[in-house]
Amino acid sequence: MQRICHIIRENFKIIDSTHSWACQQAYRIEENSIILTTADEQSAGRGRFGKKWTSPPGESLAATFSFLIDPDRIDRGNISQVMALSASKMLKGYGLSPQVKWPNDILISEKKICGILGSAIPLLKGGVCMVISIGINVSMRQENLKMLGRPATSLHFEMGKALTIENVCNKLFEIFLEDLNIFIEKGFSPFLEAYQESICLQKNDKISFHMNGELIEGHFLGINSSGALEMRLTNGLTSQFLSGELFFEK
Ligand code: BTN
Repeated sequence: MQRICHIIRENFKIIDSTHSWACQQAYRIEENSIILTTADEQSAGRGRFGKKWTSPPGESLAATFSFLIDPDRIDRGNISQVMALSASKMLKGYGLSPQVKWPNDILISEKKICGILGSAIPLLKGGVCMVISIGINVSMRQENLKMLGRPATSLHFEMGKALTIENVCNKLFEIFLEDLNIFIEKGFSPFLEAYQESICLQKNDKISFHMNGELIEGHFLGINSSGALEMRLTNGLTSQFLSGELFFEK
């Protein structure tokens, strides 16, 4: 696969979900191209595991990146983790100290600031289109953050100053495009150490894990070279997970 260098940008005043739109439009993507779709407002924003994602107009970045990936790339699931690292780099550049809640939530002081959603769409013409979306709480007001039903924060709150959504979007795009091209050429290994260091858990922390409706309990062991979470189960066996929803108490 060659570097992605052709950029298409589209913005909607209002749309149901940039992620749903990009999945429906996956057939439009061409070799070496990336489409960045953003929206000022989403009426039906989507989170992971079928949850709703709330992004009040003018207060958060809703962005989706679509591009082709070689169908043989079994490591394509790591692209959401690469995006988590790109967003973390951006946040560090703003003087913040983000941590990643495996696989790709970004927390600041244990409160969520970014969520990432990834889909792989097989195309009729052959090939696979990756659709990687991110929602960042840029200037969400306290009353809107409280309504999310989980601890959440915003860039404005953490930095004590307002940033424009456009500036955040441009900065993230610049970092992600560079990281994506490294991933296309070299895979996940150049990112592994930074990813392991970014994780908000310590070895042996007690964790539980929701996968396909089942609750699995145990202790965190680490992140392996495939980006999978390794866990020691209560029966003493070790297990590895490539996706799922993690719970822990600090
Ligand atoms: C999560 O943490 O559950 C993932 C949230 C992903 C939200 C973004 S906002 C832009 C894009 N459009 C959506 O409907 N969802 C993603």
